[in-house]
Parts: sequence; structure tokens; C-alpha cells
Amino acid sequence: MAQMQTPKYVLVTGGCGFIGSNFVRWLAREQPTVRVTVLDKLTYAGNPENLAGVPGDRVHLVVGDICDEALVDDLVAHADAVVNFAAESHNDNAIADPEPFMRTNVQGTFCLLEACRRHGVRLHHISTDEVYGDLALDDPARFTEGAPYRPSSPYAASKAASDMLVRAWVRTYGVAATISNCSNNYGPYQHVEKFIPRAVTNVLCGRRPKLYGNGLNVRDWIHVEDHCAAVWEILSRGRIGETYLVGADGERSNLQVLQEILRLMGKDPGDFDWVRDRPGHDRRYAIDAGKLARELGWRPQHSDFSAGLAKTIAWYRDHESWWRPVKEETEARYAEAGR
Ligand code: NAD
Ligand code: TYD
Repeated sequence: MAQMQTPKYVLVTGGCGFIGSNFVRWLAREQPTVRVTVLDKLTYAGNPENLAGVPGDRVHLVVGDICDEALVDDLVAHADAVVNFAAESHNDNAIADPEPFMRTNVQGTFCLLEACRRHGVRLHHISTDEVYGDLALDDPARFTEGAPYRPSSPYAASKAASDMLVRAWVRTYGVAATISNCSNNYGPYQHVEKFIPRAVTNVLCGRRPKLYGNGLNVRDWIHVEDHCAAVWEILSRGRIGETYLVGADGERSNLQVLQEILRLMGKDPGDFDWVRDRPGHDRRYAIDAGKLARELGWRPQHSDFSAGLAKTIAWYRDHESWWRPVKEETEARYAEAGR
């Protein structure tokens, strides 16, 4: 299979969201010759402030939708690679209303694939380990690239569908695409609807954090910077048509994560509320990232979870003006769902 040359003009979709903006900042720092165009619809999850400080000659923001065929065609024609982070990304929102997930995650990926096909442009598609469903808590297995797709939630099903489209466009049309399926990310600029930022900002606001169900569900945490480095390795050196799993051996129960947050914030380990469980709640995700390590030499650099968590807590403490404006509306949505 053909190998890709290092791209110079990269279209980053969803570059004003959590991982996409971390990726753009990572590129500006680590790959200063790369020029980036961000295409972002600026949904509730996108914030142009996430790109503040990135030099203007390195990044250019276009506000628009990945489902807008004419716009996507024009932007893809002027890029030599596309990295697709744009998505509806939150399980609880998908449970309340799955429609936007089908549109952006499925229809949007289709639109990008068609533009990449027309213009012969390289695509890297960002996906999630949630496409593989869940593992039992006592199962010694972890997900590998060959694991069957068994999505359990509307969000995971929409991401699985998008991955299937990418695989089919590689096989049928020869689109030069790769896919990465990563585990749960944490770090700066993550929306306060997600578990870690929600818990941290609840404590900062004097609210008790919320733990779903029995708190024993396991997530495999990776620092967002490690994910960004992995994406670059795959984009520049990955084998076309391949899928790479990205994870940092970070399995922890939600209860362990929450109690570590409380400890780092000087609170009592019992200072939280148990709330009703999420319907269809996946029990455990676990990634075997051996292929990425073997083929591309990628290794996580932020392997001390407590240290990464402490820095993330400090970031939220120092950036209250970033999260405060959306905190009340986010909690109001949770109150409606009883969580
Ligand atoms: P996010 O919700 O923080 O950001 C998504 C971004 O996409 C926002 O800026 C939003 O405005 C933009 N967007 C949404 N719909 C759009 C549309 N139709 N057109 C253009 N832009 C649109 O999400 P995130 O956590 O940064 O996740 C990014 C990607 O990584 C997603 O594909 C997600 O499935 C995947 N992923 C996330 C995690 C995680 O832990 N957050 C883990 C593995 C994979
Ligand atoms: P989340 O950040 O929504 O990510 P995902 O659903 O993609 O794994 O949730 C992470 C875990 O934390 C998940 O098992 C649900 C749980 N959770 C809580 O216990 N309390 C919360 O307030 C939230 C938002 C999530």
C-alpha cells in the first residue's frame, strides 16, 4: 500500500473542539511548517477561543458544516490532507436526541469522503474505542484492531457507521484513508459536560460531583497530547487503509478517578452524589495499542495519570472565564435527565 508524504496543508475539521484544538496547538508547536485550515460549525461544543494564541499565519478558521458539500469540496481541493475530528461527541446528548449524531457523524463523514475521492486527498478519520462495545470487568482481553464492531449506544453506532464508510471508500474507490480509534481523552479545553471536567468544575463551583450507577464502570484514560502525537504519526507515516488503536494503559474505574480528583482538590473521598445510571452504560473499555507502538514507534509521554489530572485541575482553576459561561446550561441539561 502507498505511503504518505508529510502533509503541508492540513484541513482540520472540528478544530475548535476539545481534541481538534489540542491537535492544532500541537501542530503549531511541533510541526511549524504545516499550515492549517480549521472547518468548524461552532456548535455548543466548539469555541474559537480554543485556538487563541496560535499564530495567524499557521491557522485559518472557516465557520461551516462538514455536511455542506460545496464548502467541503472547495476546502478539500486546497488541502493535501484532512483530519476529521468534527463530530457530535457526547453519549448523554445522543441518548436525549440522536438525530444530530446521524447527521454530522455519518452524513458529514460521507461528505468528506466524497470530496477526498474527487480530489485524491488523504484523509485521517478520528474515531473511538466505543465502536467495539464493552468488555466485562473481569475479562483479561483488551480491544485490538481486529475486534468486532458491537456499538451499544447511539453515539457509538454513529461512529461505527462512519468507520464503515471510510473502510468501504478505501476498498472501492482507493481513497487514501486511515482510521484511529482512541480511548477516553482528558486534558485542557474539554467541555464541562464530560466526566472529568464536570467533576472538577462542580467542585470549583461548590457543587457535589455526580457518579453514575455503581461507579465501577472502567474507562481507559489517555492525555489528549498523547492522542495528538499519535494522530500525527498515523497521518504522516501510517499505512493507507489501516486502523490504529490509540490508548495509554490507563484503565481506572469512575469511582477511582473521582476519588483521585477529590483528593487532589482537598476534598473528602465521600464528597459526591450517586446518581441514576446512564441507559445502556458500557461497562469497560480497554485498548491494546501494540500495533501503533510496533509500526510507528509511538509511546505515550504523559503516563503519570495523577500528575496529568493535577495539571488539568489547575487548568480549569485558572480558566474559569472559559468554562463558567456554559456551566449552568450544562447542569440544567443534566438536571432534566436526572443525572
Ligand atoms: P468535541 O465535542 O469537543 O468537539 C467537536 C467539534 O466538532 C466542535 O468544535 C464542534 O463545533 C464541531 N462540529 C460538530 N458538528 C460539526 C459539523 N457538522 N461540521 C463542522 N464542525 C462540527 O469533541 P472531541 O471530544 O474533541 O472529539 C473529537 C473527535 O474525537 C470525535 O470524532 C470523537 O468521536 C473522537 N473521540 C473523542 C474522545 C474523547 O474522549 N473526547 C475519545 C475518542 C475519540
Ligand atoms: P464521559 O466523559 O461522558 O465519556 P464516555 O461516555 O465517552 O466514556 O463519561 C465517562 C464515564 O463517566 C462514563 O462511564 C460515565 C461516567 N460519568 C459519571 O459517572 N458522572 C458524570 O457526571 C459523567 C458526565 C459521566
